[in-house]
Amino acid sequence: MFKTGIHNLSGLTKFTLTDIFGSSRNIYIGLYDQVGRLDRVDIPSLQEKILNDIRYRNVFKRTYQNRFDEFDNICIDAMKHFIISSNKVLVHDLAVSDGRTSYDFYKLLIKQSPGEIIYFASDILPYVFEISTVGSRVKTIIDKGQNVIQVIFPPFVFNEFSQDNKLYFINLMLKYVIDRTVVKAQLRDVRNNEAKLVIKKIYLVDKKCRDLMSVDHNFSFESYDIFDRATRQVNIVRAMNILNPTYFPQSDIKIILRNIHDSLLVDGYLIVGSNGDKGSCVDGGIYQKMNTGFISLRHAAVPSRINQVIIDFDRTEL
Ligand SMILES: C[S@@+](CC[C@H](N)C(=O)[O-])C[C@H]1O[C@@H](n2cnc3c(N)ncnc32)[C@H](O)[C@@H]1O
Repeated sequence: MFKTGIHNLSGLTKFTLTDIFGSSRNIYIGLYDQVGRLDRVDIPSLQEKILNDIRYRNVFKRTYQNRFDEFDNICIDAMKHFIISSNKVLVHDLAVSDGRTSYDFYKLLIKQSPGEIIYFASDILPYVFEISTVGSRVKTIIDKGQNVIQVIFPPFVFNEFSQDNKLYFINLMLKYVIDRTVVKAQLRDVRNNEAKLVIKKIYLVDKKCRDLMSVDHNFSFESYDIFDRATRQVNIVRAMNILNPTYFPQSDIKIILRNIHDSLLVDGYLIVGSNGDKGSCVDGGIYQKMNTGFISLRHAAVPSRINQVIIDFDRTEL
């Protein structure tokens, strides 16, 4: 058996998202950019569908507009005194995918604040590169470190970090062959800077964020890996749907917490939460930086899955 993917715009309709067995079909990530150039009202939801099944290593790229409306208000309320008494509030929103949830939170913050909000949204993968060779039907999508994310061989689309079900054995065989031939050659050509390659950079940044950045320089979007030491200090760090025990072992979460702790100014806030679809219940909380750790200020109806790890965190141990 085999499963085709969605590799062009005409194939992207609500009827084609799954195959006859109900299994979701992989969608070519380059359509994110192509969809963004259309004059249609459903661009945000189409882009959400494109990101839905893409993984970067173990972590999903999925994100939704208005994903945390209720929780965002709880966070603002917990920090209200600080926000209304500050001339300037610096925020770093980590692992934001295409930034649509950052846009929502930024808009809420500026509504509450009499001062300036300086907002840094970041993700490890704000863009990808599409590699192709003239005359070949294969396109390889890679990150800046040349790690493969997706391979497109129309009508097939292979997601590197999520293997197709064994039932789709034709997909598995095809991918095995293409990886060892065309993709291998394309990656070698990238390393050797071969002129015959066509390389396209595809930004995975929400249109509302891009439009906002063109008029408001207090909102920016950058590439940042949460395992790297932060290069600036801020008052608020927000980490939504990233510090999940299903994504990282506890030892990694402690390293990320160390980077966050170091990047927070005195009395700074850490917002952590996870949920499913937009508007679904968030398990999360707001914490405040202390000398060597964090204290809990407020929980959502359900506390964060890593609440105890945050409470037990001790900077002197790392
Ligand atoms: C599930 S999405 C969450 C997006 C958004 N925060 C939300 O809740 O809707 C997780 C994001 O984490 C990013 N990511 C994965 N590993 C990362 C890392 N080491 N550093 C920064 N971002 C990372 C992925 O690219 C993906 O966009």
